[in-house]
Amino acid sequence: MSNVITLENISKIYSTKEIETIALSNVNLEVKKGEFVSVMGPSGCGKSTMLNVMGLLDAPTDGNVLIDNLATKGMRDKALSRLRNEKIGFVFQSFHLINDLPVIDNVELPLLYRKGVWSRERRKLAKEALEKVGLSARTKHYPNQLSGGQRQRVAIARAIIGQPEIILADEPTGNLDSKMGAEIMEILHRLNKEEGATIVMVTHDERLAQQTDRIIRLFDGARVN
Ligand SMILES: Nc1ncnc2c1ncn2[C@@H]1O[C@H](COP(=O)(O)OP(=O)(O)OP(=O)(O)O)[C@@H](O)[C@H]1O
Ligand SMILES: [Mg+2]
Repeated sequence: MSNVITLENISKIYSTKEIETIALSNVNLEVKKGEFVSVMGPSGCGKSTMLNVMGLLDAPTDGNVLIDNLATKGMRDKALSRLRNEKIGFVFQSFHLINDLPVIDNVELPLLYRKGVWSRERRKLAKEALEKVGLSARTKHYPNQLSGGQRQRVAIARAIIGQPEIILADEPTGNLDSKMGAEIMEILHRLNKEEGATIVMVTHDERLAQQTDRIIRLFDGARVN
């Protein structure tokens, strides 16, 4: 099976005036097409940093990130944004929705940056994405009129509207009670099984991690398995 995500000797050092923090140190990883991988480790060990680097949101200090075997080192910002927008959907612990926009407009956002997708098409795709997460009845609501689990489902609809190959989720159930968390996991498993999405999910919950194909463990910025 081909690699969808490859990390080659990734290091990430945050430098401030006072101190240098080695957030990632020589991390290698291969994620195959259709895999559902979880990332675990103590607070501060570099999980979010790794996710942001593999999602091309943050550049590594050293090493190379390959997406579909395409090396991204040295790529210009514009090309990186484009690759990210086409191939990767993000889900965050705190949802990151825009409260001034109704649900449907939040979901459409990633397509605003795509050429050649007209507004009628955007609406249609947003409705389909909301259907997939079971939120068809909430399109005109605003995020603060929804429960946490519903907000996270909106965020997932936004992540999948552009049909990305890759979904990166940073503690997607971290702000939810166990029942809502289970609903979110069900949706992620369905996207993985039925739509073939490759998923990397950071979690603190060992039980949720056990439901995935493989667990990557980080400690002090390095892989321990
Ligand atoms: N922008 C930044 N500037 C400086 N240091 C940072 C920055 N972002 C993260 N760090 C540091 O890098 C290390 C890894 O942080 P990261 O957020 O990746 O950890 P994490 O494993 O996601 O932790 P948590 O489980 O608490 O979310 C930490 O020591 C953190 O303080
Ligand atoms: Mg984190």
